[in-house]
Amino acid sequence: MSSVKIELRQDQVDKIHAICDSFDNQPGNLISVLHKCQETFGYLPAEVQEVISEKMKIPAAKVYGVVTFYSFFTMTPRGEHPISICTGTACYVRGAEKVLSEFKKQLEIEVGETSTDGRFSLSCLRCVGACGLAPVVQVGDKTYGRVAPDDVKEIIAEYERL
Ligand code: FES
Repeated sequence: MSSVKIELRQDQVDKIHAICDSFDNQPGNLISVLHKCQETFGYLPAEVQEVISEKMKIPAAKVYGVVTFYSFFTMTPRGEHPISICTGTACYVRGAEKVLSEFKKQLEIEVGETSTDGRFSLSCLRCVGACGLAPVVQVGDKTYGRVAPDDVKEIIAEYERL
């Protein structure tokens, strides 16, 4: 996990405050606030979590606990081409895990990490509603179906050329 310290600008802090306010600073709305902040910043670094914690009066450890519990939250900036592997039941049964290991091997990163050149990041998703195409992989907005481990190299190569 990268521990690069980032400095939030005042307008970014204001933006986080506004999001917390729009959910009435209610601790029960923490997940919605985190979603909105991730949509805005692309990820949820410790610095963003701290501002939320202070503003909503929720202990920082609790905010961190929620962020790390749910796989759709991330603490690292996503790569230029974010790769998501569906690990829902249908995809899992049809070999998503082998596809995922191949991506990890080819990119030399783990789930939740971004390649050192910032081009690719890896994450897992729950069912994306395309079970007929299992196993499913998404790269940015593009969906690939019936992906086999042997296809992984080719998929990555498509984006390396971009
Ligand atoms: S389980 Fe992967 S698309 Fe449904």
